[in-house]
Amino acid sequence: MKPVSVNLDHVSSFMTGEDLSLLSAECRKSLLQLEQGTGEGKDFLGWLDLPSSQPESLINDIKDAAANLRDKIEILVVVGIGGSYLGTRAIISALAHQFETLMPETGNPYILFAGHNIGEDYFHEMLEVLSQREYGILVISKSGVTTEPAIAFRILKKHIEKKYGVRKAAERIIAVTSKQKGALRTLVEQEGYRSFVIPDNTGGRFSGLTPVGLLPVSIAGYDIDKLLEGALALEKTTNSTIPLENNPSARYAIARHALYRQGKKIEVLSNFDNRLIYFSEWWKQLFGESEGKNRKGIFPASVTYTTDLHSLGQYLQDGERILFETLICVGSQKNKVIIPEDKADLDSLNFLAGKPVNEVNKMAELGTILAHVDGGVPNILVEIPQINEYYLGGLIYFFEKACGISGYMLGVNPFNQPGVEAYKRNMFALFGKPGYEEEASKLKNRIK
Ligand code: PA5
Repeated sequence: MKPVSVNLDHVSSFMTGEDLSLLSAECRKSLLQLEQGTGEGKDFLGWLDLPSSQPESLINDIKDAAANLRDKIEILVVVGIGGSYLGTRAIISALAHQFETLMPETGNPYILFAGHNIGEDYFHEMLEVLSQREYGILVISKSGVTTEPAIAFRILKKHIEKKYGVRKAAERIIAVTSKQKGALRTLVEQEGYRSFVIPDNTGGRFSGLTPVGLLPVSIAGYDIDKLLEGALALEKTTNSTIPLENNPSARYAIARHALYRQGKKIEVLSNFDNRLIYFSEWWKQLFGESEGKNRKGIFPASVTYTTDLHSLGQYLQDGERILFETLICVGSQKNKVIIPEDKADLDSLNFLAGKPVNEVNKMAELGTILAHVDGGVPNILVEIPQINEYYLGGLIYFFEKACGISGYMLGVNPFNQPGVEAYKRNMFALFGKPGYEEEASKLKNRIK
């Protein structure tokens, strides 16, 4: 079975043959631009061959650092934001026992996240927990100067040093950052933290298969070899030597562009498996930050079913027809739970008795696809056999490649994010940070 396949049966009625041949030519051009490094942002294409090029020595170092830290801790705090956070959270949430806080016997450290928000109570409550437990910190920032993780690391560094002493604390801290630049690299050198490098040629949201994702996933107890193997399978099936009709990333990119050009400006990533909620968050960042530029781009949104069938499902079925849906279909579950027979049958559900729950979920999935297509919402199906490291690795690479191709098809540079600077400039100006005087005086006229 293929690790990731794209099924366009529920989209084809929304696309003409002409659309497709035009878009196939654009797609091929974009794929070649990516592979030959001739497009915008060409200095950030390191992610393209990560699965096939990670040195074994690096993977061994990651495993060694992970084993070493795992011995000391009950909790790992991963500090990071955006691309230095979401890939890790997506993978770990998809793989973890769904009630792991109540299942300490898994033997894996519990992973907490910080630096992705500036909630004061969040910090306070986290420190309350950390005061009572054995913990370590993994701080991840490519630039080494991003405000949110920098604030979080300041607070956590102080706490861990007070708890264990400066020298012992340093043995519980690992950093992942640029090789040479940034405040975090300087700190690594000053404090002697163990550290790993985020390659200069790989941007944050494309860095999940570098130490940014591999190290925390390994500390959390999951198999990074399998993750890379799955990604490698997709690296092979998405390169330009493969005909486009057999290249899943190209087929997905073509379908979403065909729909976008018909006015479908919102793409809703959906799933029928709660474990993929953070995967959707990762996907939204990947596509939102890569494509939303120059007043263009598909707006990425997400839902998780069946929960959201009782919420946003109404809009999807009946609201404005500006949406299309991309459904991640997961083939099978790891476990079986059978719906029991009930003598009284007050809920009239005995027709389901004896069936595994997943069969009902799958029927809900099919019913939803058909209903949404009938309601004018095209459905692209992205199919994986099940949720494990191998298929997640494949899915990550699949979407990354599609995003690179899509960005070029849209005519934007998918590898920068100039728009995320605006709020930071305002925030610094409002605080009166030196160097932001001009912004500060402009803002003064706008706020009372
Ligand atoms: O995708 C990106 O480049 C961004 O989302 C960054 O990952 C995010 O801003 C965090 O940056 P850094 O790793 O430099 O702290």
